[in-house]
Amino acid sequence: MVITKAQISDFLQIAELDRIAWLDNDNSEFIPDGEHAWRLWVEHALVVCAKEGQQIFGVAIAFPSINNTYCLHKVFVAKQARGKGLGRKLMSTLNHDFDQLSTSAFLTVDPNNTNAIALYRKLGFTSEKYVEDYYRPQEHRIVLTRPAKRV
Ligand SMILES: CC(C)(COP(=O)(O)OP(=O)(O)OC[C@H]1O[C@@H](n2cnc3c(N)ncnc32)[C@H](O)[C@@H]1OP(=O)(O)O)[C@@H](O)C(=O)NCCC(=O)NCCS
Repeated sequence: MVITKAQISDFLQIAELDRIAWLDNDNSEFIPDGEHAWRLWVEHALVVCAKEGQQIFGVAIAFPSINNTYCLHKVFVAKQARGKGLGRKLMSTLNHDFDQLSTSAFLTVDPNNTNAIALYRKLGFTSEKYVEDYYRPQEHRIVLTRPAKRV
């Protein structure tokens, strides 16, 4: 398994994994990005994937925001490949990019997604803001921020 930058030719496979990776999460039907978005992401955003041969088992994506920071948009790992360190490796790769760019980064997460929150905290996303009704009433979200590395 290698962690590598996603290629344009990967976008359909990534979109397919995005459609199934969230099925156990709350409100999962609203999470996957469409193929149009993924076609743009792989060319114009930071997209890394965990690949064995031609098969993709996990993806993390971040893009620059207008607030002079990066948004870590999402990270997901195929169900059968979880718990083996891929999520951590994908996030660490993006963190390395953030450090090279001397930028902070933020993400949003479902307050019930304790696995993901534990992972994010360990990887430096320690500043926390709870936003009620982020999507709709009772659909809250935590915004976590990782400060820029001091040089
Ligand atoms: C969250 C997710 C990306 C983690 O990927 P993963 O490859 O399973 O994670 P890793 O094996 O690298 O584990 C990293 C950390 O996650 C946490 N974690 C992972 N699986 C866990 C489990 N079953 N129970 C508790 N914690 C767990 C641990 O804190 C672990 O820390 P460690 O490296 O110190 O042991 C994966 O579960 C996933 O794709 N979930 C569905 C999509 C999703 O919820 N994405 C995040 C939304 S914001």
